Amino acid sequence: MKKVRVAVLCSGGGTNLQAILDSAAAGNIPSGEIALVVTDNASAFALERAQRAGVGTVVVDKKQYPDRSEREKRILAALEKHKIGLVVLAGFMTILSEAFTKKYDMRMINVHPSLIPSFCGPGFYGLKVHEAALARGVKVTGATVHYVNEVCDGGPIIAQKAVCVEEGDTPEILQKRVMREAEWIILPRAVETVCKTLSEREI
Ligand code: GAR
Repeated sequence: MKKVRVAVLCSGGGTNLQAILDSAAAGNIPSGEIALVVTDNASAFALERAQRAGVGTVVVDKKQYPDRSEREKRILAALEKHKIGLVVLAGFMTILSEAFTKKYDMRMINVHPSLIPSFCGPGFYGLKVHEAALARGVKVTGATVHYVNEVCDGGPIIAQKAVCVEEGDTPEILQKRVMREAEWIILPRAVETVCKTLSEREI
């Protein structure tokens, strides 16, 4: 069966990218090939992770291209050039336009650091999600992987994993636990699940 070519879009540290790369290296993503890493931040550490793994990179820097539609045009051109079949948003901190999400309908997934529908939507990203969860006093949070559509964090849910909030948690401590116990586990698994579905559909 033909492997699905996967692009991972990141804006920062890229620990979720690393989890995908490690999972692929361990043979756990047999239906996909991590073909490209795209970032909108020229100083993202994700770039180094990609280079170390021998994966090609494309930078469409927000500072150089402040206009979102110009950035999207460039990202789309890169995805098309590299014949990408699945787009993975892994800490990509820009809400994509409806035109963009339509192009990758059911071929684009995102990891979000809460149990959707809690603490999601515009304004809920990165540490802010964990700050909001702690402020509300929830005892359980977690992570969600979902398909991306025109509604921010609103696409069909693929996987979720719950994580306990503990006494004395700070947003930073909680963020790390959610990554370690949920995101880094469910995201690589979802990449394989979706690649498998896509490759079977193409036979
Ligand atoms: C992750 O926690 C990811 O779920 C979150 O940003 C972090 C990126 O970390 N994404 C969002 O909040 C998107 N709404 P990473 O760069 O180390 O993977």
